[in-house]
Formats: sequence, structure tokens, C-alpha cells
Amino acid sequence: MNFPPDLIRFLTKTERIVVLTGAGVSQESGLSTFRDSQDGLWARYKPEDLASPEAFTRDPKLVWDWYAWRREAIKGVRPNAGHYALVEMEKKITEFTLITQNVDGLHCLAGSKNVLELHGNVLRVRCADCGTLTGTWGDDTESVPRCEKCDGLLRPDVVWFGESLPRAELESAVSAAREAQIFFSIGTSGVVQPAAALAHAARNNGSVIVEINAEPTPLTPKVDFAFHGKSGEILPELVKALT
Ligand code: APR
Repeated sequence: MNFPPDLIRFLTKTERIVVLTGAGVSQESGLSTFRDSQDGLWARYKPEDLASPEAFTRDPKLVWDWYAWRREAIKGVRPNAGHYALVEMEKKITEFTLITQNVDGLHCLAGSKNVLELHGNVLRVRCADCGTLTGTWGDDTESVPRCEKCDGLLRPDVVWFGESLPRAELESAVSAAREAQIFFSIGTSGVVQPAAALAHAARNNGSVIVEINAEPTPLTPKVDFAFHGKSGEILPELVKALT
């Protein structure tokens, strides 16, 4: 791919880069994106109908089973070339912040260091009542496992629709976006707030905005550079062009 020389020049001298990623970055690892239709057993459910406090109250076992299935799917996949290209980009940049909406932990597994997981991590489990994180739980398949401390129901340590984002991560993400010289939006449909607002915060503070996504998004008309294709192909080429 031929990248505009202006972008390459700017990238090689920039000191502060912020990258926001979404489910598209993990698509080439074999994980379906959030707004794709789901596979097999879960095809008749919309994620929005499972990833909410109301869904958990209504049918905790259904929600627990969906996340158990997602955890298993994630355990079987590896980071892809896009994740690894972001690890390489981080090594070249003085201040590099990777903000992700993904709960699959693949950026950290690839080796990215300064990662803000805005929506939590599906591999972590905590008590729905007292919040205690737990690494182990019984595998009774009939009911949702309970907290050893308070007997509350266990749930994934992720942010559900209608819930607040972790405050420290959100504050760090907003201040990094405001300071960014270049802001990348990669593999995200940009429709879920407040993550989607980060690109606008960066732009309002003078950052160059670059989008890498399989298809145009609501952000596309506002960006300085848009590359439409697979992040696992475009990102390695971009990082190569920097050397
Ligand atoms: N490379 C780049 N982009 C891709 C690829 C790929 N290989 N495959 C798909 N995409 C794009 C899609 O075209 C889509 O625009 O990635 C985007 C994924 O969008 P969503 O499925 O909406 O995922 P995301 O933006 O991460 O969703 C945000 O919504 O429901 C919540 O909490 C959930 O974190 C999630 C948030």
C-alpha cells in the first residue's frame, strides 16, 4: 500500500500517539466482531440482549454461559499481525497509549505495554455484589458460581450496556486523547460512547486523525487519513514504512 508521504513524515517525528481499537482488530484472530451475527448456538441472541445488568438479573445462567463460551473461544486464539504491528509501533514512539474496547486481552498477550482496557477483560471474573476478583470458581454446570466471600453471583469483569466505564481508565484515555499528536481509530464502528468521543476530543485539540477499518464509519468524514481494509494487513505495512 502506498501511504501518503505526509503521513509517514509526520509519524516518524511524532512523540505522542494514541490508538483506539475495537473488535475489528481481533477479527483476523478468528473472533467475530460485536455487530457481526454470532455463530452457532448463540446466533439467535443479540449481544446487546446478553451484555447488560438487566439480562443478568433476568437470567444469570444464560449470561454466564455466554461468557463462558466466549472465554473458551478466546483461549483458543492468538494475536494477529495487527496486534503485533502495534507492539512494534509502541517501541518507536516516546508516548504511546493503546486504548481498547476489546475484552479479549489480545493486545497484552501480543506484548503491548501501555494498554487501557476501557471495557474490562472477559478472562477476569468478579463478584456481582462485593466486586472481589476471583481466579477460580466451581464448574458446576447447573448454576452460576458464587463468591467465596459473600455468596454473591460471579460475573465477568467487563462493562455491560448501561454500566459506567472504569473511572481511572476513562480519565487516562481522555487525557491521552487530548494530548495526542496522532490518533488512530482502528477496527471500530465508532458507535459506542464514550469511546467513540475520544477521536473527537483528540481532533478538537489539534490531533491528526487516522482511521483503519474494513469499511467507512461515521468517523470517516472527519478523519485526515482513512485506510479501508484489514488492520492485520495495513498495520504491518504502515509500521514497515516507518523504518
Ligand atoms: N480489520 C479492520 N476492521 C475490521 C476488520 C478487520 N479485519 N473486520 C471488521 N472490521 C471492522 C468492521 O467493519 C466494523 O466497522 O471493525 C468494526 C467493528 O465494529 P463493532 O463490531 O461495532 O465493534 P466495536 O466498535 O469494537 O464495538 C464497540 O460495542 O457493544 C459494544 O462493548 C462492545 O466493545 C464493544 C463496543
